[in-house]
Amino acid sequence: MESFVLPEDFLLGTATASLQIEGGDKNNTWYKWCEEGHIKDGSSCITACDHWNRVEQDTELLIQMNVNTHRMSLEWSRIEPKAGEFSSEAIEHYRNEINLLIKNGIKPLITLHHFSEPLWFYEMGGWLKTGNSNYFLEYVKYVIEHLGDEVCEWITFNEPNVYTKFGYIFGLWPPGHRKLSMSSKVCSEIIKAHVKAYQIIHSIRKEMGFNGKTRVGFAMHIRIFCGVTFMGRLLSKAADYFFHELYMEGMIKSNIKFPLSVNGHKHTAATYADFIGINYYTRNIIEFSFSPSNLFHSIRNDNELDKNDLGWDIYPEGIYSVCKKYYERYRLPIYITENGISDKSDSKRPNFICSHLANIAKAIGEGTEIQRYYHWTLMDNFEWLDGQEANFGLYHCNFETQERTIRPGGNLYSMICKEKKLTDEMMDEFLKAK
Ligand code: BGC
Repeated sequence: MESFVLPEDFLLGTATASLQIEGGDKNNTWYKWCEEGHIKDGSSCITACDHWNRVEQDTELLIQMNVNTHRMSLEWSRIEPKAGEFSSEAIEHYRNEINLLIKNGIKPLITLHHFSEPLWFYEMGGWLKTGNSNYFLEYVKYVIEHLGDEVCEWITFNEPNVYTKFGYIFGLWPPGHRKLSMSSKVCSEIIKAHVKAYQIIHSIRKEMGFNGKTRVGFAMHIRIFCGVTFMGRLLSKAADYFFHELYMEGMIKSNIKFPLSVNGHKHTAATYADFIGINYYTRNIIEFSFSPSNLFHSIRNDNELDKNDLGWDIYPEGIYSVCKKYYERYRLPIYITENGISDKSDSKRPNFICSHLANIAKAIGEGTEIQRYYHWTLMDNFEWLDGQEANFGLYHCNFETQERTIRPGGNLYSMICKEKKLTDEMMDEFLKAK
């Protein structure tokens, strides 16, 4: 590991998602999914980190972390508890939370859809029913009309590729479907909704007098797919197309590509993202498999690479190559909207953080416009199917007592946020092997 220096205007932060930390909301699809017993450790998002009642305490954690920016999401089911009925109480709650960030010099980046949805939306057919995306767009309008004066940076959707794959192909997430045709339908609906939301956010903020300062994007889960055999290489290309390309082209260029359905969508050549949000975690080796239910491929680890607690390969060079690839293709600023490690003992987190940031610094040095890094995540939280078993937090969270304790990796990250560099002294103090 070598020391690095990040540009002065580079912002470092943390990322969270409402469902994973807030607790207390029964009006969303994930609560129902937990009640139905789908979570590996039997836990439920109803507890999470009780963040809804601990906003001030958790803002203190952010202050201690020295972050310049924080990415958080809004819970649609709280803001719109019934179709067409909005809660001024919920929006006020979020307004206060956002104001607290701003007051403390922390720039908010707000996600409108991070996997969870109101139960009523799902009961009305969700994204599978044509026309339902208007509900999402009404919610977007309401939010921007109420928070758009405070927040200039928005993410419409978090990881639409993961959302459609797990919820509509593998049946592992709500709503639990296993149909390719459904996933294609949802994917095209989400792309169209993103394009419209992009325009809505810009136009409302323009009416408010904030023209020129608004930035709207999305956060895409990007993996490195690699093949070691001929078939593996071919399948990696296919995986890259179906998992990344379809979404990137759709969301950035409003270009609905095969096999998605254009159905009523008018393509206007323009750009519908002011930045590209990349959530980067790992690399997968792809091999051919005879199983049609697994779309004729299997995914395996690389025995040579170190793993996180969930068995994911740690491959820091990947963040360098994905940033370069998408910057060269679209020439839009890159935000790393998520990157982190499940590491309960914290034995790998310091190295993980530094090696990924070192690769970012290298790409920036070569002219790649990477402007932000959001570490996933502030504190251990409700990790979807893995429940409370995963430990991605810079702070450990004891879910019984709700006590938060900073991990050594958290201390190191707070120093990096403050200094915008990694020094030899920091390496001596925090890194096991340089
Ligand atoms: C998601 C987060 C999740 C993280 C770790 C990302 O795919 O956006 O919500 O907790 O990965 O699995």
